[in-house]
Amino acid sequence: MGAAGPVIVGVGIDVVDVERFGATLDRTPRLRERLFTPAERTRQLASLAARFAAKEALAKALGAPSGLQWQDAEVMTAADGRPWLAVRGTVAERCTAQGVATLHVSLSHDAGIASAVVVLEA
Ligand SMILES: CC(C)(COP(=O)(O)OP(=O)(O)OC[C@H]1O[C@@H](n2cnc3c(N)ncnc32)[C@H](O)[C@@H]1OP(=O)(O)O)[C@@H](O)C(=O)NCCC(=O)NCCS
Repeated sequence: MGAAGPVIVGVGIDVVDVERFGATLDRTPRLRERLFTPAERTRQLASLAARFAAKEALAKALGAPSGLQWQDAEVMTAADGRPWLAVRGTVAERCTAQGVATLHVSLSHDAGIASAVVVLEA
């Protein structure tokens, strides 16, 4: 038998209606500051919606425990455009408690919908 490969310990998915998300942000100006880090806030609306979807997908992958802070998960962007998740505080604590060592994220936005998938690896 070969050596054991990576162990998946969580998966999450979310979809967001971009226009409706934009209307919610416009109605509730504080929401942008609560949900997104200063770097994330510079993004255009569809990318913001995808980042919101990524945070929801991450919460689902962790089993949606209470007490997670939105800004404790940040979607970073590598030089080549690839997104990755940086976690700290409340989110990092849950990841450690659940034995998560590596987080994977993928984003998409088209046809008015933004979506994200998160996979958690031990
Ligand atoms: C649980 C939660 C993710 C549901 O999100 P939602 O937008 O209301 O619902 P969606 O339509 O996207 O998803 C619904 C699906 O979520 C899944 N779901 C429900 N509870 C879940 C849980 N505890 N863990 C994982 N998935 C869950 C279910 O499969 C459900 O579909 P079903 O009812 O047909 O089975 C949401 O209420 C929540 O807790 N969000 C996290 C908030 C948060 O922690 N933010 C900080 C993140 S950094």
